[in-house]
Amino acid sequence: MEFQAQQLRDAFRIVVFSGAGISAESGIPTFRDALTGLWERFDPAALATAQAFRNDPALVWGWYEWRRAKVLAAQPNAAHLAIAKLATRVPKLTVVTQNVDDLLERAGCPDVLHLHGSLGSPRCFACARPYKFKGDQLDGREEGRSIEPPRCLHCNGKVRPGVVWFGESLPDDVWRKAVTAAKDCDLLLSVGTWGLVQPAAELPRIALQHEARVVHINVQPEAVAGEREFSLLGRAAEVLPRLVEQAFG
Ligand code: OAD
Repeated sequence: MEFQAQQLRDAFRIVVFSGAGISAESGIPTFRDALTGLWERFDPAALATAQAFRNDPALVWGWYEWRRAKVLAAQPNAAHLAIAKLATRVPKLTVVTQNVDDLLERAGCPDVLHLHGSLGSPRCFACARPYKFKGDQLDGREEGRSIEPPRCLHCNGKVRPGVVWFGESLPDDVWRKAVTAAKDCDLLLSVGTWGLVQPAAELPRIALQHEARVVHINVQPEAVAGEREFSLLGRAAEVLPRLVEQAFG
């Protein structure tokens, strides 16, 4: 069965659950796509763990600064904008993302739940106090270049990226809100994610278990089980705006 725009129009409580694929067309690399994915070129264990930061803080900080520079130079794409438009059309929309960029916010989406943290909110590795970037001079933030992390103004500890690394827990309050929204929604749109990283990947399953419809929007087909789950094949920046346009004009 095909997912109909009418089903989007009829939904009262919608969750958008996004992954790296939603920002692909803004020029931000995903993690697991063949050839272009970050984890093809870099070892996650050497860059995205607390141990990696202990071993070589400058390598890890430099890598995240390169990614932050890419995000600062990028613009939201039509998928981000379609979600912002959807937020103005439905009674309740909760946006949950695994992305550490801020393109959803810059498109106008309010209250985005960042399950995996954010490149824009670093904190001290020692005392956890937030650190504020001074200006945004990101020249020379090149792939593979080590950069010494700044120091915490309170305890002089090293500043770490404000993202969730492998082996770390998701921020409790954010995860709780995301689960509540998944349990309560009548439609969950899962956009541009492999759905491999736990516990985030549970959200579509939680929505299904609570009788919601789940629609996967991805350039790869998704195996669906049952008549409440759908797979829409295509690029997020094409599929989402079309769907929102068909549903709401
Ligand atoms: P992945 O890189 O694992 O998956 C990206 C998904 O987006 C794939 O399913 C692609 O097929 C799809 N995709 C690519 N381009 C697309 C496009 N233009 N339109 C629609 N879909 C597209 O990224 P995530 O699932 O977000 O975690 O990865 C989850 C987590 O794993 C990340 O948050 C990160 C990573 O390791 C941490 O760093 C903790």
